[in-house]
Amino acid sequence: MLEDSSFAIHPGGQSETSESGYKQLGDYVRHEQVEGGAAFHCINGSVKVLFYRSDLVRIIMNPHQEPSTKHNPAVVAEREETVVVMDEEDSHILLTTSALHLQIEKSPFRIHISDGSGRPIVTEYQQGMGYNSKGEVIAFKDCEETDGYYGFGEKAGFLNKQGEEYTMWNTDVYAPHNPETDPLYQSIPYFMGLRDGKAYGVFFHNSYESTFDMKTSRDVFSFKAAGGQLDYFVCAGPSPKEVLEQYTHLTGRMAVPPKWALGYHQSRYSYESETEVREVVKQFLNKEIPLDALYLDIHYMDGYRVFTFNKDQFADPKRLVQDLKDVGVHVIPIVDPGVKKDPEYSVYVDGIKEGHFCSYLEGDLYTGDVWPGESAFPDFTDERTRKWWGDLHEYYTELGIEGIWNDMNEPAVFNETKTMDVNVMHRNDGDPDTHRALHNLYGLQMGKATVDGLTNQLDGKRPFLLTRAGYAGVQRYAAVWTGDNRSFWEHLQLSLPMVMNLGLSGVAFSGPDVGGFAHDTNAELLTRWTQVGAFTPYFRNHSAIGTVYQEPWQFGETYEELMKTYIRLRYVFMPHLYSLFYKAHLEGEPVMRPLLYEFPEDKKTYNINDQFMLGDNVLIAPILQPSVTDRAVYFPEGTWVDYFNGDVYEGEETHLVHAELDKLPIFVKRGSLLPQGSIKQSTKERDDGLSFHIYAGEHETYRTTFYDDDGETTNYVQGEKLEVNLTIESSDSEVSVTLERGEGTYRPNYEQLVLVVHELQGRALKVNGVELDGVDDVFSIPLP
Ligand code: GLC
Repeated sequence: MLEDSSFAIHPGGQSETSESGYKQLGDYVRHEQVEGGAAFHCINGSVKVLFYRSDLVRIIMNPHQEPSTKHNPAVVAEREETVVVMDEEDSHILLTTSALHLQIEKSPFRIHISDGSGRPIVTEYQQGMGYNSKGEVIAFKDCEETDGYYGFGEKAGFLNKQGEEYTMWNTDVYAPHNPETDPLYQSIPYFMGLRDGKAYGVFFHNSYESTFDMKTSRDVFSFKAAGGQLDYFVCAGPSPKEVLEQYTHLTGRMAVPPKWALGYHQSRYSYESETEVREVVKQFLNKEIPLDALYLDIHYMDGYRVFTFNKDQFADPKRLVQDLKDVGVHVIPIVDPGVKKDPEYSVYVDGIKEGHFCSYLEGDLYTGDVWPGESAFPDFTDERTRKWWGDLHEYYTELGIEGIWNDMNEPAVFNETKTMDVNVMHRNDGDPDTHRALHNLYGLQMGKATVDGLTNQLDGKRPFLLTRAGYAGVQRYAAVWTGDNRSFWEHLQLSLPMVMNLGLSGVAFSGPDVGGFAHDTNAELLTRWTQVGAFTPYFRNHSAIGTVYQEPWQFGETYEELMKTYIRLRYVFMPHLYSLFYKAHLEGEPVMRPLLYEFPEDKKTYNINDQFMLGDNVLIAPILQPSVTDRAVYFPEGTWVDYFNGDVYEGEETHLVHAELDKLPIFVKRGSLLPQGSIKQSTKERDDGLSFHIYAGEHETYRTTFYDDDGETTNYVQGEKLEVNLTIESSDSEVSVTLERGEGTYRPNYEQLVLVVHELQGRALKVNGVELDGVDDVFSIPLP
């Protein structure tokens, strides 16, 4: 292709700069107060400022008409009643809430935003905001060299995006994901800024192709979109946790996932027959390697027609699904959006008859090539079509299937542009617009269609959806896997900042293909990757057609044992993970966190790519290179205890840690608590033992909430859940634990809690004020 050759740097090929014909808003002319904010009229356009809450403001600039306050499907929040104080001076107007200060300069018109303490967060650079003759809208903001930029969804490269430029345009990228490979499959036009230890968020509410530029200049960053309004939300922070709460208030949070979705998942492009599928599952059972789900990639279908099975290879899918479920394994089939153009295929015929497929303004059907050959694409922007598509899933749920894998939903098309013609017209729930405007929403809307359908059909059970493409808000419907990576050590490395930044972008449930998709994996890489995978929010081993098989036993017994140990450890950590997923559900907190999330004042954490936290007290520092058995680990504030051997490390220092291939370095913060479950073949097995490991501290106080529920139904929404609020206080003479039952009526089958105290060192253990007797620092108490 031309863009892959030297033609790409042809001197005549340098494009016009986006500043060409750039027009600023110009001077302020007048303003009026509107509900929740104010409207400003300037020489070259109008701006609306609307407070959604005291800590969340929306700014909409429209050069040509009244700013529209419509939401795209990312946004679920409604504007709440907010006290906004307005003051006018000669030169400026002030809009103030308890958490945000907006100083609006009149000449030239500028909006400078500070947080509740008056600290500038998003202030306008001298070019302000405006638009150009190409229809692009642009905002230029001040930036300091030490500012950190995080989030942006699924991006390659390092954790801190200062000095980078990113485009949002959902794209199928099979070529190797290099640090500069951009865009990928997800578009989340959002970032969290970090300045002097305080955080804020910016969500660019525009679904056109957009670009964030933190690269071109040292003192300005900009974001622009190819069309639409300049419409963005600012989250006040000031902590990363508050930013996530604010951003996910706006774009929604995930449901509590079914527990089986958090277990170990095995996939392959493809397990091609029922016999092969049964054989793989049998191996897991015989080898006692836990397994909760097995994926059916495109070969299960009849000629790649979605909602069909290839009856030669899968004679009795219902039986297969049921037999596997009986042994704790869920079957997850892939469902792509492309519907084969075939007049004898009912999905195509009905879709045509009922007008569900994407077409041009003139009425011609759009078709493009994907796996089945020439295919039509459902118009998921339309509720009627979403309903139709959702209902079609009865085909799978009738078979007992509870999880679906959406792929190719950028949508990917095998052509030069890799996607649908941007001139296709979408119905867009009564507000028709082009694919150019709505491309980035296609995967999100497919997710909505699928989850709504499954939810209706599953009779109170929780559905699971995995998706490749998405947009801001995708966390409401699906877990995200990071697409076609390769079996390179570099891809293991880049998966960590990628998943951490997804977490900071509201997507708590994500992970890469463990072992690598394309290219051949090897024993050491797969072992190290499986160790890491056991602690990433989503844990699936998947590999491509034509590559070596990479199930955990493929490289001999030594490696198999190592991988089995860590897959099992995933289940031991399940109560901790599940409690973290509950926090993602409640407040949008990431499960896998960069260190800066917990320690935003510690500058050393700002670009740590190769360590992460699981919650606020577990630090993981994997080995990410071949033949390496020692690595430097940075420990933030506090004292940290090696999970395996109890070695102690002082924080705010870097230590050398030794880790042979059998070891993933895991550390727990002293003073804190870690719930631990037991090894299981799958999450279907009963929870027998639950223990709370207390890492006794010196003078620390630690608070946390342990969460549990039935793990499979939506009854938790009605209060069938267990919350235990815990406080651990360590002093010279005692370690005191306060437990109280929080909300909820769920009674688990464990009635006792085991408290294992590390480093009690002769001190008394008190639970709710009463001193307990234990054996070897192990205590048993009834569940409150
Ligand atoms: C795409 C997906 C990959 C899948 C393959 C075949 O490349 O990203 O995961 O295995 O298609 O369906």
